[in-house]
Amino acid sequence: MCGIVGYIGTREAYPIIIEGLKRLEYRGYDSAGIALYDGKDLKVSKTKGKVVDLEERSEKEITKHGNVGIGHTRWATHGVPNDVNSHPHISNSGELVIIHNGIIENYESLKKELISRGYTFKSDTDTEVLINLIEDVKRQENVKLGKAVQIALNQVIGAYAIAVFDKNKPEEVVIARLGSPLAIGVGKDDFFIASDASPFLEYTKDAIYLEDEEMAIIRLHKGIKIRKIKDDSLVDPYVQKLQINLEQIEKGGFDHFMLKEIHEQPKAITDTYRGRLLRQEAIIKMAGVEDNMKKFLNADRIIIVACGTSWHAGLVAEYIFEDLARVPVEVEYASEFRYRNPIITEKDVLIAISQSGETADTLAAIKLAKSKGAFVFGVCNVVGSSIARETHAGAYTHAGPEIGVASTKAFTTQITVLTLIALRLARAKGTISSTDFRHHLLELEMIPKKVEEALKSDAHIRKISEIYKEAPNMLYLGRGYNFPVALEGALKLKEISYIHAEGYPAAEMKHGPIALIDENMPIIVIATKKGHYEKVVSNIQEIKSRKGKIIGIVTEGDVQVKELADHVIEVPETLESLSPLLTTIPLQLLSYHIAVMLGKNVDQPRNLAKSVTVE
Ligand code: M6R
Repeated sequence: MCGIVGYIGTREAYPIIIEGLKRLEYRGYDSAGIALYDGKDLKVSKTKGKVVDLEERSEKEITKHGNVGIGHTRWATHGVPNDVNSHPHISNSGELVIIHNGIIENYESLKKELISRGYTFKSDTDTEVLINLIEDVKRQENVKLGKAVQIALNQVIGAYAIAVFDKNKPEEVVIARLGSPLAIGVGKDDFFIASDASPFLEYTKDAIYLEDEEMAIIRLHKGIKIRKIKDDSLVDPYVQKLQINLEQIEKGGFDHFMLKEIHEQPKAITDTYRGRLLRQEAIIKMAGVEDNMKKFLNADRIIIVACGTSWHAGLVAEYIFEDLARVPVEVEYASEFRYRNPIITEKDVLIAISQSGETADTLAAIKLAKSKGAFVFGVCNVVGSSIARETHAGAYTHAGPEIGVASTKAFTTQITVLTLIALRLARAKGTISSTDFRHHLLELEMIPKKVEEALKSDAHIRKISEIYKEAPNMLYLGRGYNFPVALEGALKLKEISYIHAEGYPAAEMKHGPIALIDENMPIIVIATKKGHYEKVVSNIQEIKSRKGKIIGIVTEGDVQVKELADHVIEVPETLESLSPLLTTIPLQLLSYHIAVMLGKNVDQPRNLAKSVTVE
């Protein structure tokens, strides 16, 4: 949560920081701010609202000139989103300035201590406490900024990514991380600081990712010194060449990132299985699985941990692993997992799924499982993310950057990776015949084309959206492999349109939700040919008798549901285990169109952030 951008060099810092913040708005967008050193003094402008509001405000408030600066886009944790609580925060002397992503858990006791020493506070934030703690240490110990930051951080409990500078020594910016990501872009005569590489991609492809518990002192013309915060030892900076380019993080002619990402799914799924699914040779090649095959084969069970959409992908995986590889699977909300003293042994394999690779709850679950000796495998999209680094092995989804807060291509590519793993294990365990295995490979290879087909229903889905856009509630029903898709469809709708929606296993409807059904309730039922079709048709009959409005997601050429439902949306036929990759497409489009018609901010829904780095 929260986006951090900084610049130190010879260019104008303002446009770099503002454009960078716009790219990081997916991390939080309830307030924004910037601090610049204009050659003489520190200039700060900040406001509740988005980066465009900051642009408007800074136009009136500051000269937008200077070669050193830091900027922030916020997702509030301590203190409501308002101008005063926005970052940057300045120390009591007016000399030090900070931006911060994360939470300082012991800020109250630190604040009390500082107040007793005469410090005053304008905001309700933990960040203002931290900058004054740094100032206090700097004074008391008579040390330079870097040392003061280090000493202060050793007194802090919590998580952070910070950037700090001193207006009296503006040729130096100090940054540090613990639990929140931070990258340094290394330019020719300058350095960029950001929560991810997107703000500096057009300037440099050379990046250093700070590890947890590391800090860096970045000095103009002098370079970077990285140290361990705890023991002060020096770390050799590892500069990596970034593989992503600017087009991947732009809208490319689509109105929203979400729509672009929905349409990218055929390519994203192909990229996910490219080089892994070798149909001609009838093999699946995944280094992370191959190298750890023994761990997988000896596992008593697989535990999957994730949050949100990634958790739904985990639920689909539960069906696939149990069905194909005959291994018991438990799927856990990462946030609940570690708070119930789970039984984990060395014979467990834990698979952590995360698009961002930064989700705090998932990271915490990984650490717990590792401490108990389990083998931990990551399925992440963001290369080099904290989860990718924290796990013993893993497989990237290769979906490309996902910027819309509502996950779309992450979901389908996660399912693709997990299907590949399940098939590989099934082959190794002999729980799938060679004919079936080949059939699965062939069908999986055809999925991108079928997703393209499914996307062609867009105009039809838009019409359906027009009819139901004012509905206050919606129900989503599915069985078997399509039950998690029902959950995912409901999550998509509620997070971007703010319409209340619930997903249920279709048969569970009779045990309560059926009471909600009347002529005003739209119910989306996933009723594909190979997924307990007859049973779902009976459920549809039950809805029909109670006058509910039925939108059926059906297999191409379906007749029975068409007769009963108010509307149907067809998807191509595939194997039951692969059907979530297709049935989820119309649900994504339905949510998208309804949200657009209601005038909602599709890419940045209220209260949400793309990567949830607080617990
Ligand atoms: O980055 P992660 O996959 O770990 O994120 C997990 C959830 O926060 C995420 O899927 C969230 O539920 C999305 N907004 C869903 O669209």
